Amino acid sequence: MHTQYTPFLWQQMEQLHRQQPFSGHTPGHKNGAFLPAQLQQAWGAQFASYDYTELDGLDNLHFSGGCIAQSQQQAAAIFGTGQCFYLINGTTAGLQAAIMAACSNQKVFVPRHVHRSVYHSLLLAHAEPIYLPLELDPATSLPTGIRPDLLQQYMQQYPDCRNLILVNPTYQGITAGNVQCVQLAKQYGLTVIVDEAHGSHLHFHPELPSSLLDAGADLVVQSWHKTLPVLTQGSALLVHEQYSGPSPEPFLSLLQTTSPSYLLMASLEAGSIYMGEQAKQHIQQSLPLIFSLHEQINSTLQTLHVLWQPQWQQDPFKLYLISDHLSGAAMDAYLRTQQAVYSEMHDNQGILFILPIQTTAQWTQRIYQALAALDRYSLSQPMVQQTTASFYCREIPQQQYPLHQAFYMPKEQICWAQAAHRTAGQFILRYPPGIPLLVPGEHISAEIVQLWLASGGTAHEKVTVLTEA
Ligand SMILES: Cc1ncc(COP(=O)(O)O)c(C=O)c1O
Repeated sequence: MHTQYTPFLWQQMEQLHRQQPFSGHTPGHKNGAFLPAQLQQAWGAQFASYDYTELDGLDNLHFSGGCIAQSQQQAAAIFGTGQCFYLINGTTAGLQAAIMAACSNQKVFVPRHVHRSVYHSLLLAHAEPIYLPLELDPATSLPTGIRPDLLQQYMQQYPDCRNLILVNPTYQGITAGNVQCVQLAKQYGLTVIVDEAHGSHLHFHPELPSSLLDAGADLVVQSWHKTLPVLTQGSALLVHEQYSGPSPEPFLSLLQTTSPSYLLMASLEAGSIYMGEQAKQHIQQSLPLIFSLHEQINSTLQTLHVLWQPQWQQDPFKLYLISDHLSGAAMDAYLRTQQAVYSEMHDNQGILFILPIQTTAQWTQRIYQALAALDRYSLSQPMVQQTTASFYCREIPQQQYPLHQAFYMPKEQICWAQAAHRTAGQFILRYPPGIPLLVPGEHISAEIVQLWLASGGTAHEKVTVLTEA
Protein backbone atom coordinates (compact mmCIF):
# COMPACT_ATOMS: atom_id res chain seq x y z
CA MET A 1 0.00 0.00 0.00
CA HIS A 2 1.54 3.33 -1.10
CA THR A 3 1.42 6.50 0.95
CA GLN A 4 -0.70 9.07 -0.86
CA TYR A 5 0.83 12.50 -1.25
CA THR A 6 -0.84 15.81 -2.07
CA PRO A 7 0.16 18.00 -5.03
CA PHE A 8 -0.30 21.19 -2.96
CA LEU A 9 1.07 23.58 -5.59
CA TRP A 10 -0.40 21.80 -8.60
CA GLN A 11 -3.87 21.76 -7.03
CA GLN A 12 -3.74 25.54 -6.71
CA MET A 13 -2.50 25.93 -10.28
CA GLU A 14 -5.33 23.72 -11.55
CA GLN A 15 -7.91 25.64 -9.54
CA LEU A 16 -6.73 28.90 -11.05
CA HIS A 17 -6.60 27.35 -14.51
CA ARG A 18 -10.25 26.33 -14.30
CA GLN A 19 -11.16 30.02 -13.86
CA GLN A 20 -9.52 30.76 -17.27
CA PRO A 21 -7.88 33.83 -15.75
CA PHE A 22 -7.37 36.85 -18.04
CA SER A 23 -3.73 37.91 -17.96
CA GLY A 24 -2.83 41.57 -17.56
CA HIS A 25 0.51 40.58 -16.03
CA THR A 26 3.78 38.85 -16.83
CA PRO A 27 4.81 36.74 -18.73
CA GLY A 28 4.29 38.47 -22.07
CA HIS A 29 2.79 35.46 -23.86
CA LYS A 30 -0.38 35.99 -21.70
CA ASN A 31 -1.10 32.45 -20.56
CA GLY A 32 0.04 31.08 -23.92
CA ALA A 33 -2.27 33.20 -26.14
CA PHE A 34 0.62 35.03 -27.81
CA LEU A 35 3.18 32.27 -27.74
CA PRO A 36 5.12 32.33 -31.05
CA ALA A 37 3.36 30.05 -33.55
CA GLN A 38 6.13 27.46 -33.92
CA LEU A 39 6.18 26.92 -30.15
CA GLN A 40 2.38 26.74 -29.96
CA GLN A 41 2.48 24.14 -32.67
CA ALA A 42 5.12 22.05 -30.97
CA TRP A 43 4.00 22.40 -27.34
CA GLY A 44 0.34 23.31 -27.65
CA ALA A 45 -0.89 26.48 -25.93
CA GLN A 46 -1.87 24.35 -22.90
CA PHE A 47 1.70 24.03 -21.64
CA ALA A 48 2.32 27.78 -21.58
CA SER A 49 -1.11 28.45 -20.04
CA TYR A 50 0.35 27.05 -16.78
CA ASP A 51 3.39 29.35 -16.93
CA TYR A 52 2.05 31.43 -14.05
CA THR A 53 3.50 34.08 -11.85
CA GLU A 54 2.62 34.78 -8.17
CA LEU A 55 -1.19 34.89 -8.54
CA ASP A 56 -4.01 34.21 -6.05
CA GLY A 57 -3.29 31.10 -4.01
CA LEU A 58 0.06 30.40 -5.69
CA ASP A 59 2.31 31.52 -2.80
CA ASN A 60 5.77 33.05 -3.35
CA LEU A 61 8.98 31.02 -3.43
CA HIS A 62 10.92 33.72 -1.59
CA PHE A 63 8.34 34.29 1.18
CA SER A 64 6.58 30.95 1.16
CA GLY A 65 3.84 30.23 3.68
CA GLY A 66 1.18 28.61 1.50
CA CYS A 67 1.16 25.86 -1.11
CA ILE A 68 4.89 26.14 -1.92
CA ALA A 69 5.81 25.80 1.76
CA GLN A 70 3.49 22.78 2.12
CA SER A 71 4.90 21.24 -1.04
CA GLN A 72 8.50 21.71 0.13
CA GLN A 73 7.69 20.27 3.59
CA GLN A 74 6.14 17.21 1.99
CA ALA A 75 9.18 16.81 -0.29
CA ALA A 76 11.47 17.00 2.77
CA ALA A 77 9.50 14.13 4.36
CA ILE A 78 9.68 12.10 1.14
CA PHE A 79 13.47 12.54 0.99
CA GLY A 80 13.74 11.75 4.72
CA THR A 81 14.97 15.10 5.97
CA GLY A 82 14.08 18.23 7.89
CA GLN A 83 13.80 20.93 5.24
CA CYS A 84 13.67 21.09 1.46
CA PHE A 85 14.14 24.19 -0.68
CA TYR A 86 13.09 24.02 -4.33
CA LEU A 87 15.80 25.40 -6.63
CA ILE A 88 14.91 26.85 -10.00
CA ASN A 89 18.51 27.62 -10.93
CA GLY A 90 19.85 24.11 -10.64
CA THR A 91 22.18 22.66 -8.07
CA THR A 92 24.51 25.53 -8.82
CA ALA A 93 22.27 27.92 -6.82
CA GLY A 94 21.91 25.41 -3.97
CA LEU A 95 25.65 24.87 -3.64
CA GLN A 96 26.23 28.60 -3.68
CA ALA A 97 23.65 29.18 -0.94
CA ALA A 98 24.81 26.22 1.19
CA ILE A 99 28.48 27.19 0.98
CA MET A 100 27.77 30.88 1.59
CA ALA A 101 25.62 29.98 4.62
CA ALA A 102 28.02 27.50 6.20
CA CYS A 103 31.52 28.57 5.10
CA SER A 104 31.62 32.37 4.55
CA ASN A 105 35.16 33.58 5.31
CA GLN A 106 36.06 30.17 6.72
CA LYS A 107 38.33 27.29 5.82
CA VAL A 108 36.75 24.32 4.07
CA PHE A 109 38.10 20.93 2.95
CA VAL A 110 37.46 20.54 -0.78
CA PRO A 111 38.18 17.39 -2.83
CA ARG A 112 39.88 18.20 -6.13
CA HIS A 113 37.18 16.51 -8.23
CA VAL A 114 34.43 19.03 -7.46
CA HIS A 115 32.40 20.59 -10.25
CA ARG A 116 33.15 24.18 -11.14
CA SER A 117 29.94 25.32 -9.41
CA VAL A 118 31.61 24.47 -6.09
CA TYR A 119 34.59 26.71 -6.91
CA HIS A 120 32.19 29.48 -7.93
CA SER A 121 30.51 29.04 -4.56
CA LEU A 122 33.87 29.29 -2.76
CA LEU A 123 34.48 32.55 -4.57
CA LEU A 124 31.10 33.97 -3.59
CA ALA A 125 31.54 32.81 0.02
CA HIS A 126 35.09 34.16 0.20
CA ALA A 127 35.93 30.76 1.67
CA GLU A 128 39.45 29.40 1.97
CA PRO A 129 39.72 25.94 0.35
CA ILE A 130 42.06 23.30 1.72
CA TYR A 131 42.23 20.84 -1.14
CA LEU A 132 42.09 17.10 -0.53
CA PRO A 133 44.12 15.08 -3.06
CA LEU A 134 42.24 12.56 -5.17
CA GLU A 135 42.56 8.86 -5.58
CA LEU A 136 42.70 8.15 -9.33
CA ASP A 137 42.17 4.65 -10.69
CA PRO A 138 45.50 3.63 -12.31
CA ALA A 139 43.77 1.84 -15.22
CA THR A 140 41.28 4.54 -16.26
CA SER A 141 42.49 7.66 -14.39
CA LEU A 142 38.94 8.17 -13.12
CA PRO A 143 38.62 9.80 -9.69
CA THR A 144 37.57 7.23 -7.10
CA GLY A 145 37.09 9.72 -4.29
CA ILE A 146 38.71 10.68 -1.00
CA ARG A 147 40.27 8.11 1.32
CA PRO A 148 38.72 8.37 4.82
CA ASP A 149 42.14 7.91 6.49
CA LEU A 150 43.50 10.81 4.44
CA LEU A 151 40.57 12.99 5.51
CA GLN A 152 41.34 12.09 9.10
CA GLN A 153 44.99 13.17 8.67
CA TYR A 154 43.81 16.50 7.22
CA MET A 155 41.31 17.09 10.03
CA GLN A 156 44.10 16.52 12.58
CA GLN A 157 46.50 18.77 10.66
CA TYR A 158 43.97 21.63 10.24
CA PRO A 159 41.86 21.66 13.43
CA ASP A 160 40.59 25.17 12.60
CA CYS A 161 38.91 23.92 9.40
CA ARG A 162 35.32 23.18 10.41
CA ASN A 163 33.71 22.38 7.05
CA LEU A 164 33.90 19.60 4.46
CA ILE A 165 32.52 19.38 0.93
CA LEU A 166 31.95 15.97 -0.68
CA VAL A 167 30.73 14.77 -4.09
CA ASN A 168 28.30 11.83 -4.05
CA PRO A 169 28.40 10.11 -6.48
CA THR A 170 31.05 11.21 -8.96
CA TYR A 171 29.93 11.88 -12.52
CA GLN A 172 30.72 8.23 -13.27
CA GLY A 173 28.64 7.06 -10.29
CA ILE A 174 31.41 6.21 -7.79
CA THR A 175 30.63 6.66 -4.08
CA ALA A 176 33.40 4.69 -2.32
CA GLY A 177 34.48 6.02 1.08
CA ASN A 178 31.89 8.79 1.21
CA VAL A 179 29.74 7.41 4.04
CA GLN A 180 32.84 6.85 6.17
CA CYS A 181 34.05 10.40 5.39
CA VAL A 182 30.72 11.84 6.60
CA GLN A 183 30.81 9.74 9.76
CA LEU A 184 34.39 10.79 10.52
CA ALA A 185 33.69 14.45 9.82
CA LYS A 186 30.65 14.39 12.09
CA GLN A 187 32.75 12.79 14.87
CA TYR A 188 35.10 15.77 14.55
CA GLY A 189 32.11 18.15 14.61
CA LEU A 190 32.48 19.46 11.04
CA THR A 191 29.64 20.78 8.90
CA VAL A 192 29.31 18.54 5.83
CA ILE A 193 28.02 19.94 2.55
CA VAL A 194 27.39 17.51 -0.29
CA ASP A 195 27.18 18.03 -4.00
CA GLU A 196 24.73 15.20 -4.69
CA ALA A 197 23.86 16.53 -8.15
CA HIS A 198 23.89 12.98 -9.54
CA GLY A 199 22.46 11.20 -6.49
CA SER A 200 18.83 12.32 -6.09
CA HIS A 201 17.52 8.74 -6.37
CA LEU A 202 19.93 7.09 -3.93
CA HIS A 203 17.71 7.44 -0.85
CA PHE A 204 14.95 5.39 -2.46
CA HIS A 205 16.28 1.84 -2.63
CA PRO A 206 18.37 -0.18 -0.14
CA GLU A 207 20.44 -1.78 -2.91
CA LEU A 208 21.71 1.59 -4.12
CA PRO A 209 24.71 3.34 -2.55
CA SER A 210 23.72 5.65 0.31
CA SER A 211 22.57 9.22 -0.04
CA LEU A 212 24.87 11.19 2.26
CA LEU A 213 21.86 12.85 3.85
CA ASP A 214 21.07 9.40 5.30
CA ALA A 215 24.67 9.18 6.51
CA GLY A 216 24.27 12.42 8.50
CA ALA A 217 25.49 15.17 6.12
CA ASP A 218 24.14 18.66 6.91
CA LEU A 219 23.38 20.38 3.60
CA VAL A 220 22.84 18.22 0.53
CA VAL A 221 22.15 19.61 -2.92
CA GLN A 222 20.59 17.41 -5.59
CA SER A 223 19.93 18.01 -9.30
CA TRP A 224 16.54 16.32 -9.46
CA HIS A 225 16.53 17.19 -13.16
CA LYS A 226 19.54 14.95 -13.81
CA THR A 227 18.20 11.59 -12.66
CA LEU A 228 14.52 12.10 -11.73
CA PRO A 229 11.70 12.86 -14.19
CA VAL A 230 11.95 16.64 -13.61
CA LEU A 231 12.43 19.57 -15.99
CA THR A 232 15.94 20.94 -16.58
CA GLN A 233 17.14 23.34 -13.84
CA GLY A 234 14.88 21.78 -11.21
CA SER A 235 16.98 20.92 -8.15
CA ALA A 236 16.62 20.85 -4.37
CA LEU A 237 18.60 21.80 -1.30
CA LEU A 238 17.93 19.37 1.55
CA VAL A 239 18.79 20.32 5.11
CA HIS A 240 19.39 17.71 7.83
CA GLU A 241 17.28 18.09 11.00
CA GLN A 242 20.48 18.31 13.06
CA TYR A 243 22.03 21.15 11.08
CA SER A 244 22.27 24.13 13.43
CA GLY A 245 24.35 26.56 11.35
CA PRO A 246 23.12 29.65 9.51
CA SER A 247 20.10 29.02 7.29
CA PRO A 248 20.73 28.92 3.54
CA GLU A 249 17.34 30.59 2.95
CA PRO A 250 18.45 34.26 2.81
CA PHE A 251 21.26 33.25 0.44
CA LEU A 252 18.80 31.49 -1.86
CA SER A 253 16.77 34.68 -1.94
CA LEU A 254 19.89 36.62 -2.82
CA LEU A 255 20.92 34.27 -5.60
CA GLN A 256 17.74 33.06 -7.27
CA THR A 257 15.47 34.93 -9.65
CA THR A 258 12.49 36.86 -8.29
CA SER A 259 10.47 35.33 -11.16
CA PRO A 260 10.66 31.60 -10.45
CA SER A 261 9.04 29.38 -13.05
CA TYR A 262 5.84 27.70 -11.84
CA LEU A 263 6.32 25.08 -14.55
CA LEU A 264 9.61 24.17 -12.91
CA MET A 265 8.20 24.23 -9.40
CA ALA A 266 5.22 22.06 -10.43
CA SER A 267 7.69 19.68 -12.04
CA LEU A 268 9.73 19.54 -8.80
CA GLU A 269 6.60 18.80 -6.81
CA ALA A 270 5.39 16.10 -9.22
CA GLY A 271 8.91 14.61 -9.25
CA SER A 272 9.04 14.43 -5.46
CA ILE A 273 5.61 12.77 -5.27
CA TYR A 274 6.65 10.31 -7.95
CA MET A 275 9.71 9.46 -5.84
CA GLY A 276 7.58 8.95 -2.74
CA GLU A 277 4.94 6.85 -4.45
CA GLN A 278 6.66 4.87 -7.18
CA ALA A 279 10.44 5.16 -7.21
CA LYS A 280 11.21 2.18 -4.97
CA GLN A 281 9.12 -0.16 -7.09
CA HIS A 282 10.50 1.22 -10.37
CA ILE A 283 14.09 0.98 -9.14
CA GLN A 284 13.39 -2.58 -7.97
CA GLN A 285 12.17 -3.45 -11.49
CA SER A 286 15.05 -1.60 -13.19
CA LEU A 287 17.97 -3.21 -11.31
CA PRO A 288 17.72 -6.74 -12.81
CA LEU A 289 17.30 -5.22 -16.28
CA ILE A 290 20.40 -3.08 -15.81
CA PHE A 291 22.52 -5.97 -14.54
CA SER A 292 21.37 -8.21 -17.38
CA LEU A 293 22.33 -5.41 -19.80
CA HIS A 294 25.82 -5.43 -18.20
CA GLU A 295 25.95 -9.19 -18.69
CA GLN A 296 24.71 -8.98 -22.29
CA ILE A 297 27.29 -6.32 -23.18
CA ASN A 298 30.20 -8.08 -21.48
CA SER A 299 29.41 -11.51 -22.88
CA THR A 300 28.36 -10.71 -26.44
CA LEU A 301 30.26 -7.60 -27.51
CA GLN A 302 33.91 -8.05 -28.40
CA THR A 303 35.25 -4.53 -27.94
CA LEU A 304 33.06 -2.97 -25.21
CA HIS A 305 33.09 -3.52 -21.44
CA VAL A 306 31.03 -2.12 -18.63
CA LEU A 307 33.17 -0.48 -15.96
CA TRP A 308 31.85 -1.99 -12.73
CA GLN A 309 34.03 -2.44 -9.66
CA PRO A 310 32.22 -3.60 -6.49
CA GLN A 311 34.74 -1.79 -4.26
CA TRP A 312 33.77 1.55 -5.86
CA GLN A 313 30.15 1.22 -4.71
CA GLN A 314 28.84 2.46 -8.03
CA ASP A 315 25.41 3.73 -8.89
CA PRO A 316 23.91 1.22 -11.37
CA PHE A 317 22.00 4.02 -13.10
CA LYS A 318 25.32 5.21 -14.51
CA LEU A 319 26.49 3.02 -17.40
CA TYR A 320 30.15 3.72 -18.18
CA LEU A 321 31.59 1.80 -21.13
CA ILE A 322 35.17 1.33 -22.19
CA SER A 323 36.23 0.27 -25.68
CA ASP A 324 39.34 -1.74 -26.59
CA HIS A 325 39.38 -0.13 -30.02
CA LEU A 326 38.04 3.41 -29.91
CA SER A 327 38.44 6.53 -27.81
CA GLY A 328 35.44 7.90 -25.92
CA ALA A 329 35.16 10.68 -28.52
CA ALA A 330 35.11 8.21 -31.44
CA MET A 331 32.46 6.04 -29.71
CA ASP A 332 30.33 9.09 -29.04
CA ALA A 333 30.65 10.37 -32.63
CA TYR A 334 29.56 7.01 -34.08
CA LEU A 335 26.57 6.69 -31.74
CA ARG A 336 25.40 10.26 -32.40
CA THR A 337 25.83 10.30 -36.15
CA GLN A 338 24.97 6.68 -37.03
CA GLN A 339 22.52 5.67 -34.32
CA ALA A 340 21.02 8.98 -33.12
CA VAL A 341 21.96 7.89 -29.59
CA TYR A 342 23.24 10.71 -27.40
CA SER A 343 25.34 9.90 -24.36
CA GLU A 344 25.67 12.02 -21.22
CA MET A 345 29.39 12.51 -21.81
CA HIS A 346 32.57 10.92 -23.02
CA ASP A 347 36.15 11.26 -21.86
CA ASN A 348 39.45 9.82 -23.01
CA GLN A 349 38.70 6.39 -21.66
CA GLY A 350 35.01 5.84 -22.18
CA ILE A 351 31.45 6.93 -22.63
CA LEU A 352 28.76 7.49 -20.00
CA PHE A 353 24.98 7.02 -20.12
CA ILE A 354 22.49 7.94 -17.41
CA LEU A 355 19.73 5.33 -17.27
CA PRO A 356 16.16 6.22 -16.27
CA ILE A 357 15.00 5.05 -12.85
CA GLN A 358 12.05 3.44 -14.63
CA THR A 359 14.35 1.54 -16.99
CA THR A 360 12.39 -0.86 -19.20
CA ALA A 361 13.46 -3.86 -21.29
CA GLN A 362 12.64 -1.78 -24.39
CA TRP A 363 15.00 0.94 -23.23
CA THR A 364 17.91 -1.42 -22.47
CA GLN A 365 17.42 -3.15 -25.83
CA ARG A 366 17.50 0.16 -27.70
CA ILE A 367 20.84 0.95 -26.06
CA TYR A 368 22.11 -2.60 -26.60
CA GLN A 369 21.29 -2.53 -30.32
CA ALA A 370 23.17 0.76 -30.75
CA LEU A 371 26.13 -0.65 -28.82
CA ALA A 372 26.10 -3.84 -30.89
CA ALA A 373 26.30 -1.69 -34.05
CA LEU A 374 29.15 0.29 -32.45
CA ASP A 375 30.91 -2.98 -31.66
CA ARG A 376 30.66 -4.17 -35.30
CA TYR A 377 31.94 -0.79 -36.51
CA SER A 378 34.80 -0.84 -33.95
CA LEU A 379 36.04 -4.20 -35.22
CA SER A 380 36.52 -2.64 -38.66
CA GLN A 381 38.61 0.20 -37.19
CA PRO A 382 42.31 0.11 -36.29
CA MET A 383 42.83 -0.20 -32.56
CA VAL A 384 43.69 3.16 -30.97
CA GLN A 385 46.53 3.53 -28.53
CA GLN A 386 44.49 4.14 -25.34
CA THR A 387 45.71 7.16 -23.46
CA THR A 388 45.77 7.10 -19.70
CA ALA A 389 45.78 10.90 -19.66
CA SER A 390 43.23 12.16 -17.22
CA PHE A 391 40.78 15.02 -17.14
CA TYR A 392 41.66 15.16 -13.44
CA CYS A 393 44.72 16.39 -11.60
CA ARG A 394 46.41 13.87 -9.31
CA GLU A 395 48.63 16.36 -7.47
CA ILE A 396 47.31 19.55 -5.90
CA PRO A 397 48.63 22.32 -8.18
CA GLN A 398 50.87 25.00 -6.71
CA GLN A 399 48.86 28.07 -5.66
CA GLN A 400 50.47 31.44 -6.52
CA TYR A 401 47.52 33.60 -5.43
CA PRO A 402 44.38 32.75 -3.45
CA LEU A 403 41.38 32.02 -5.71
CA HIS A 404 39.39 35.09 -4.66
CA GLN A 405 42.40 37.38 -5.26
CA ALA A 406 43.36 35.85 -8.63
CA PHE A 407 39.79 36.02 -9.91
CA TYR A 408 39.91 39.85 -9.83
CA MET A 409 43.53 40.38 -11.03
CA PRO A 410 44.40 41.73 -14.51
CA LYS A 411 44.53 39.01 -17.16
CA GLU A 412 45.59 38.35 -20.74
CA GLN A 413 45.08 35.63 -23.33
CA ILE A 414 47.95 33.57 -24.73
CA CYS A 415 48.26 30.27 -26.64
CA TRP A 416 48.61 27.02 -24.73
CA ALA A 417 52.00 26.62 -26.45
CA GLN A 418 53.28 29.55 -24.35
CA ALA A 419 51.35 28.75 -21.18
CA ALA A 420 53.89 26.70 -19.20
CA HIS A 421 55.09 28.49 -16.03
CA ARG A 422 52.40 31.19 -16.18
CA THR A 423 49.56 31.49 -13.67
CA ALA A 424 46.01 30.47 -14.58
CA GLY A 425 43.58 33.38 -14.88
CA GLN A 426 40.57 31.18 -15.63
CA PHE A 427 39.12 27.82 -14.63
CA ILE A 428 40.85 25.33 -16.92
CA LEU A 429 38.54 22.41 -17.59
CA ARG A 430 36.84 20.12 -20.07
CA TYR A 431 33.05 20.28 -20.18
CA PRO A 432 31.64 17.80 -19.30
CA PRO A 433 32.70 16.83 -16.65
CA GLY A 434 33.23 20.50 -15.73
CA ILE A 435 35.88 19.65 -13.15
CA PRO A 436 38.77 22.12 -13.22
CA LEU A 437 42.32 20.92 -13.78
CA LEU A 438 43.41 24.34 -12.52
CA VAL A 439 41.63 27.27 -10.91
CA PRO A 440 42.60 30.96 -11.17
CA GLY A 441 45.80 31.68 -9.26
CA GLU A 442 47.38 28.23 -9.80
CA HIS A 443 50.70 27.54 -11.52
CA ILE A 444 50.51 26.13 -15.07
CA SER A 445 53.28 23.52 -14.96
CA ALA A 446 54.69 21.76 -18.03
CA GLU A 447 52.84 18.63 -16.80
CA ILE A 448 49.52 20.51 -16.82
CA VAL A 449 50.15 21.63 -20.41
CA GLN A 450 50.79 17.97 -21.32
CA LEU A 451 47.62 16.91 -19.51
CA TRP A 452 45.64 19.54 -21.41
CA LEU A 453 47.03 18.39 -24.76
CA ALA A 454 46.57 14.70 -23.97
CA SER A 455 42.95 15.29 -22.97
CA GLY A 456 42.14 16.65 -26.44
CA GLY A 457 43.26 20.31 -26.19
CA THR A 458 45.49 21.96 -28.81
CA ALA A 459 48.62 24.11 -28.52
CA HIS A 460 47.12 27.02 -30.51
CA GLU A 461 43.98 27.33 -28.36
CA LYS A 462 43.88 30.40 -26.13
CA VAL A 463 44.08 30.33 -22.37
CA THR A 464 43.63 33.23 -19.94
CA VAL A 465 46.58 33.82 -17.62
CA LEU A 466 47.32 36.44 -14.99
CA THR A 467 49.26 39.51 -16.12
CA GLU A 468 52.04 39.52 -13.59
CA ALA A 469 54.63 42.29 -13.28
C1 LIG B 1 28.88 17.01 -10.09
C2 LIG B 1 28.04 18.21 -10.46
N1 LIG B 1 27.77 19.14 -9.53
C3 LIG B 1 27.02 20.24 -9.81
C4 LIG B 1 26.51 20.44 -11.06
C5 LIG B 1 25.68 21.66 -11.32
O1 LIG B 1 24.34 21.25 -11.35
P1 LIG B 1 23.17 22.07 -12.08
O2 LIG B 1 23.39 21.90 -13.55
O3 LIG B 1 21.92 21.41 -11.59
O4 LIG B 1 23.30 23.49 -11.65
C6 LIG B 1 26.79 19.51 -12.08
C7 LIG B 1 26.29 19.72 -13.45
O5 LIG B 1 26.62 19.08 -14.39
C8 LIG B 1 27.56 18.37 -11.77
O6 LIG B 1 27.84 17.44 -12.70
